[in-house]
Amino acid sequence: MDAFLKETILEAGELAMDWFSRRDKMKVEYKSPKDLVTEADRNVEQFLKMHLLDEYPDFGFWGEESGEKEQKATRWIVDPIDGTHSFSRGQYFWGISVALEQDGEIVMGAVYAPALNDLYFAEKDRGAWKNEEPIEVSDIRNLSESMVSTGFACLRGKGGGSNNLNRFSRVARASMGQRRFGSAALDLCLVADGQVDGFWEQNLNLYDVAAGYLLVMEAGGRVSNFDGIDGLNPKQICASNSLIHPELIHFM
Ligand code: IPD
Ligand code: CA
Repeated sequence: MDAFLKETILEAGELAMDWFSRRDKMKVEYKSPKDLVTEADRNVEQFLKMHLLDEYPDFGFWGEESGEKEQKATRWIVDPIDGTHSFSRGQYFWGISVALEQDGEIVMGAVYAPALNDLYFAEKDRGAWKNEEPIEVSDIRNLSESMVSTGFACLRGKGGGSNNLNRFSRVARASMGQRRFGSAALDLCLVADGQVDGFWEQNLNLYDVAAGYLLVMEAGGRVSNFDGIDGLNPKQICASNSLIHPELIHFM
């Protein structure tokens, strides 16, 4: 199954790059005032749905753009393009995220960044890889020496209620470097690959983070909510190399 998933996500990446090369001709719509969807998102998701369900007809499928017809114990969870805004502007930091969930547990995940030519893959209890090489989280022990990343999905709504701005300023003061890359799926891959030491964001969806969550866990990292309760909570995700987790949680 892993070889099939890698082959399929690489093919989806070719389709995405074809749209990327002719994005000036691509239809772009607003799902909400600050949330875009493009023809490429829909086309890549359709491609993945067709190929994944053709090979595994008994599995379910939940895609960001087409939703979920019926929930099944085993289902694919797909974000066809995570970082659509970046994609639409010709930037390289966006990815295709595919996770396999069985009885509520993420058991396999792949995130492919075609413009960067990086394929991240993880399988439960079997490790995490980047371009077929094993990866692991960083060994930075202190937040003051850490690079962290985050996002601001919370500002997509009416802008009221709790948001990430004050939390960001607290963590920024306590850490060494801060980044906002524009793709939560790839943010998590960078934690798994030891390029970034911690990531957090609120108001995400399962399809943004399901594959990246498994990558961090299989690379020796830790994922919790903002109170430090371990597990995957897309509405309040905090991921790290596990060494800086207690300090990071303190500022959430
Ligand atoms: C977005 C990216 C971004 C995050 C947004 C997500 P999308 O995914 O992951 O980094 O801050 O909240 O919605 O919408 O481009 O698939
Ligand atoms: Ca998306």
